[in-house]
Amino acid sequence: MKLAILYHSESGNTETVAGIIAEGASSAGNVEVKCMGIEDIDQGFLDEAAAVIFGCPTYLADFSWQIKKWFDTSHEFDLSGKLGAAFATENYLGGGADSALLTLAGHMLVKGMLVYSVGSAEGKPFTHYGAVCIKEGDAEQQERAKLFGSRVAAKALEIFE
Ligand SMILES: Cc1cc2nc3c(=O)[nH]c(=O)nc-3n(C[C@H](O)[C@H](O)[C@H](O)COP(=O)(O)O)c2cc1C
Repeated sequence: MKLAILYHSESGNTETVAGIIAEGASSAGNVEVKCMGIEDIDQGFLDEAAAVIFGCPTYLADFSWQIKKWFDTSHEFDLSGKLGAAFATENYLGGGADSALLTLAGHMLVKGMLVYSVGSAEGKPFTHYGAVCIKEGDAEQQERAKLFGSRVAAKALEIFE
């Protein structure tokens, strides 16, 4: 099963967290994971992916305009029926990453994705709307991001394999 991680990152924090989530997803079993910046997407891989995890920085307490533009203009990608999850980075606690995740969830719904965040379903640590890291995350936040990746991948395996 293929799992794509699609992210927007200007200064590298979100890209770093994408890599950590990829590590977690790869540990879930028979999963081939690929991290891709939104400006450099392997369309063949994305078309075949059963699950997509989106990531972006928080801008003005919401998702970045670059990922908004990607959702608005990238009509060549069919995301319908794929499991969708999200993560976000921010500069400080309460900076608005939760709002960014909710906006991402809304956009994934519009694209016909099956939106999932693990939430509190598998016990602590909780990821209510998705994974959040302050900048590239401290050790605890990175561990949570890794676990988030493995939990989302496990759910995709449960649904699609
Ligand atoms: C235009 C702009 C707006 C931002 N707004 C917020 C914000 O509202 N809250 C916050 O916590 N961080 C904010 N940040 C900080 C970024 O979300 C944070 O540094 C993020 O980790 C950057 O990700 P990147 O390194 O992947 O680009 C903003 C950064 C920029 C450039």
